Amino acid sequence: MTLAFEGIEKVYPNGFHAVKRLDLQIQTGEFFTLLGPSGCGKTTTLRMIAGLEMPTAGRLLIDGRDFTRIHPRDRDVAMVFQSYALYPHMSVRENLVLNLKVRRVPAAEIAPRLAEISRILGIDQLLDSKPARLSGGQRQRVALGRALIRRPNVFLMDEPLSNLDLKLRERTRTELKKLHERMPVTTVYVTHDQAEALVLSDRICIMNGGELQQVGTPQDVYDRPANMFVAKFVGTPSINLLPVAVGAGEGGLQLRLAKGGHPLDGAVMPATGEVLRRLDQTRGRAVLGIRPEAVALDDEPGAGSLPGSVGLVEPMGSVNHIVLGIDGSEEVTVDGEPFIAVVRSNERYAHGQPIHVSLRPDRLLLFDEQSGRSLAALSPVGSWELA
Ligand SMILES: Nc1ncnc2c1ncn2[C@@H]1O[C@H](COP(=O)(O)OP(=O)(O)OP(=O)(O)O)[C@@H](O)[C@H]1O
Ligand SMILES: [Mg+2]
Repeated sequence: MTLAFEGIEKVYPNGFHAVKRLDLQIQTGEFFTLLGPSGCGKTTTLRMIAGLEMPTAGRLLIDGRDFTRIHPRDRDVAMVFQSYALYPHMSVRENLVLNLKVRRVPAAEIAPRLAEISRILGIDQLLDSKPARLSGGQRQRVALGRALIRRPNVFLMDEPLSNLDLKLRERTRTELKKLHERMPVTTVYVTHDQAEALVLSDRICIMNGGELQQVGTPQDVYDRPANMFVAKFVGTPSINLLPVAVGAGEGGLQLRLAKGGHPLDGAVMPATGEVLRRLDQTRGRAVLGIRPEAVALDDEPGAGSLPGSVGLVEPMGSVNHIVLGIDGSEEVTVDGEPFIAVVRSNERYAHGQPIHVSLRPDRLLLFDEQSGRSLAALSPVGSWELA
């Protein structure tokens, strides 16, 4: 079952513009995630697929047919909400089959479906229990089972794991992924948790303020973010955004840290004509994006390394996050966030220690300072290309 959004808009009756001109194509069997901060319009979008909310413009197509004004009951769509709302007075079994009974599915068909779903979800031992006696994770699986047993054509999930503690959330996340591999129902999943989106999705749609920012595979949106918002939202700890001066130097683009004017020699690479033309419009200023795991620290200065110092050290177990200063100042980034390097925890650093900071050239991104749009990315073969 494919889903298509054509110029979908949602303006609520109070005039609030929650979703702006959304165009999306979701393929059969795809696990598709809507990712973005609170209030960006994820739930509104999901509710429009379910038919619980009417778009104020545009068309919603299911398998090529216009479903924009079709009643929710006639859409064959199952939704799992953040609060799973199981009926407390009914057993797990009764909760699971209730929907099928309401839809007058014959008993001879209900029994094998119940057996299959409870086996897949590992809840076959719980069928006679009441929800109150289940753990959060077990309740979550029952809520999923209740939706899946209907064999919907589209499965909608709105932050279904957010009530679980971290461990359980990670475990249920893995179960969800396995479940989707076994039963590849077209799924639209909503979350504000980028890690969840990366782990689960075939493709991710990142939204901000009701607007689509980028659609792509987890690797796409991480490696080639369309703009600074996506770059910042995906990946943890967040990408470092440094103000730079851009010029054409010998051998290619020359970048300098805007503050202090330090040349970043590792970034001198040939650039395509398109990139040079784009950079022509930026008046020599841009924002350099570098992931914390691509920031290298050395005791000795190297070509293009920056004179740094170690600020806070945050131990994370296998790695440490190191807050860096450059030229004695920790105000280094364009967004006021700390400049962070991720290093293995067996590498010891002390607060105040002087250090030489270099940026691994294979992971550099350039953004337009004004629009935030991606200008170029340094490719693995070592040239600046359009992102
Ligand atoms: N019925 C409504 N009337 C007016 N505004 C609404 C209504 N429902 C939602 N909104 C507004 O629309 C925007 C998008 O809401 P939505 O629930 O889709 O966000 P969300 O991305 O799901 O956020 P969260 O992650 O917090 O659940 C929000 O600013 C919200 O306040
Ligand atoms: Mg929501």
